[in-house]
Amino acid sequence: MKAIPKAALSGSLKDYRAQKNSGLMSRADSFFDWQELRRQHGLWPYARSTSSAPKPRSEIMTDAGEAGSGVNFASQDYLSLSSHPRIKAAATEAIEKYGVHSAGSAALLGNTANSLRLSAALSDFLGGREVVLYPTGWAAGYGAIQGFVRSDDHVVMDILAHSCLQAGATAATQNVYYVRHLDLDAVARRLANIRATDAKNGILVVTESLFSMHSDAPDLRALRNVCDAYGASLLVDCAHDFGCMGEGGLGRIGEQEMLGDIDIVIGSFSKTFASNGGFVAVKTRAAAEYLKYYSAPHTFSNALSPVQAATVLEALSIIRSDEGLMLRHKLRDNVNHLREAMARSGREVLGEPSPIVPVRVGGEALGRLASKHLSIFAGIANLVEFPAVPLGQSRFRFQVMAAHTAEDVEAMVAAFNGAMESALAELKQLEGGLGAQYPAAPEIEQAQLDGTWSGT
Ligand SMILES: Cc1ncc(COP(=O)(O)O)c(C=O)c1O
Repeated sequence: MKAIPKAALSGSLKDYRAQKNSGLMSRADSFFDWQELRRQHGLWPYARSTSSAPKPRSEIMTDAGEAGSGVNFASQDYLSLSSHPRIKAAATEAIEKYGVHSAGSAALLGNTANSLRLSAALSDFLGGREVVLYPTGWAAGYGAIQGFVRSDDHVVMDILAHSCLQAGATAATQNVYYVRHLDLDAVARRLANIRATDAKNGILVVTESLFSMHSDAPDLRALRNVCDAYGASLLVDCAHDFGCMGEGGLGRIGEQEMLGDIDIVIGSFSKTFASNGGFVAVKTRAAAEYLKYYSAPHTFSNALSPVQAATVLEALSIIRSDEGLMLRHKLRDNVNHLREAMARSGREVLGEPSPIVPVRVGGEALGRLASKHLSIFAGIANLVEFPAVPLGQSRFRFQVMAAHTAEDVEAMVAAFNGAMESALAELKQLEGGLGAQYPAAPEIEQAQLDGTWSGT
């Protein structure tokens, strides 16, 4: 076994971002050296590819070109719709009828018969809200904030909000205030401070209905009340729970009966609807029309293809059917099974039941070694480390699908337990050899203030 240098088990992506020298391109070199070191020791778990469909058992390839296979809890296909026969048929039919490309931005000639049908169907699902489609969920989150917020306005945002929301706010105004994760009092205090000196400009409060690194959720009713007290609007990004949670499939906003009370709803198709794409839903036709011409990724980026629109349309029809309900129940049972089995093995499972099951590992060195060993034990799951989560709180994020079987869940837990044992043994050996601890970094309660790498 090659000795692992300390640098491969320490440092983070954040270290290579804020470099100050005049070489815009050469700045990448030190990052690449560190990445290569990790890659050579099998410690770079990112940018893997699949060479089969994203199913419970998948074939993959690391970015160093090593093939692998195993039980897959790393794909975002919560209701297992990506290979559903009806969706494949709808996509094929769309190709035959319309070709593969929309060939324009939605502000020009990029809308298609399928995208119009999709907007109408989503609007119906969302109780009559006006829907604006985007090429990705990221573009929807970014575009909603950039489209509505102006430089004198204020954005008050949960510190763990997704990178698209942070980037949209930064593009729109310098008045961006991050508040502690899920801290309602902190939101209220910030709104009071803003209103104490500024009664005339707008305030947008930004949160998610399910946070994807922690699997937790805000009390949306309470947040709405706080917004109302200070004349603020509320934006909720429901990328991870829309379609796959709640009896009707409306996720947390449905469960909390909040659909009518949120000013701006953001959704992504990439987690449950088997396609790239996203949407913004607002309450009035005026707000939707405004967004279509002032929100850059809608106006100036090519529209969803007819194939993507047909895929999402068919997915939505399944999601709204009895089959959709059955798939959500299956997903929920798998989630509960995985959480219970992990807890039974003595693992710390974070957050609330959702398709994302975060399991805490701790220090970055242990996380990287565990990820390497997980492949050896034929388990596929994503390691998340700083700066996507706080330093010293690396974790695996198991993403559950409706098509997982009880055997898949048990196989994943066994693989993870094996990987953790091997990783702990290897770390101990390395520390002994070096006579020094690999830093299990101090716990800090704050992750990505500069929004470099927030969520996926
Ligand atoms: C909360 C949130 N918003 C937006 C996105 C972006 O969605 P997409 O991957 O569809 O661009 C994601 C997923 O990465 C997300 O987790």
